[in-house]
Amino acid sequence: MITLRPVTPENEADILCLQVAEGQRHFVADNRRSLEEAAACIRAGGSAFPFGIYDGDQPVGFLMVGFGVDDDWLNPPEIAHGSYNIWRLMIDQRCQRKGYGRQALQLALDFIRSWPCGKADCCWLSYEPENVVARELYRSVGFQETGDMDENEIIAALRL
Ligand SMILES: CC(C)(COP(=O)(O)OP(=O)(O)OC[C@H]1O[C@@H](n2cnc3c(N)ncnc32)[C@H](O)[C@@H]1OP(=O)(O)O)[C@@H](O)C(=O)NCCC(=O)NCCS
Repeated sequence: MITLRPVTPENEADILCLQVAEGQRHFVADNRRSLEEAAACIRAGGSAFPFGIYDGDQPVGFLMVGFGVDDDWLNPPEIAHGSYNIWRLMIDQRCQRKGYGRQALQLALDFIRSWPCGKADCCWLSYEPENVVARELYRSVGFQETGDMDENEIIAALRL
């Protein structure tokens, strides 16, 4: 069974070992950097929820949910204000194409709909235009491109 478990000092080392394939590294920050960003966001008054993706007790990936805009975020896109965000998603290179990414996304939406930061209308995310696998996965779950960009990434959103 696939579950999302919060990243804690106990499981952090397992999550730091997970990696995407070399040709995918420009699509996603490594997990160490993501955890540093989560800590910085929380220090700046924001909200970040880093999760390990587990199949039983085996860590297979990492996902991070955010909400709103923290005080240190320069030039956030308009949609970020008052919205949930699937901030990171990665599945370890050895565990891809087994349905984990799709299931983790659904679990993230279930978590978001438990309203950990209060009710909101929208969840957004962004991806590089060349990331056709992520683009198609998000589209198939219901994310629609808004026409806006976050720097060089396409923004897509889903009504909650
Ligand atoms: C995007 C990513 C999270 C998908 O995870 P995954 O566990 O491999 O995805 P799933 O097994 O759930 O597959 C989801 C769909 O993508 C398709 N897919 C996955 N990898 C694929 C590949 N390399 N080529 C073509 N299709 C692929 C699957 O066939 C599946 O489609 P279907 O449900 O219609 O059959 C994973 O490829 C990844 O970690 N990529 C690198 C990091 C990244 O790009 N993150 C997103 C940043 S925005």
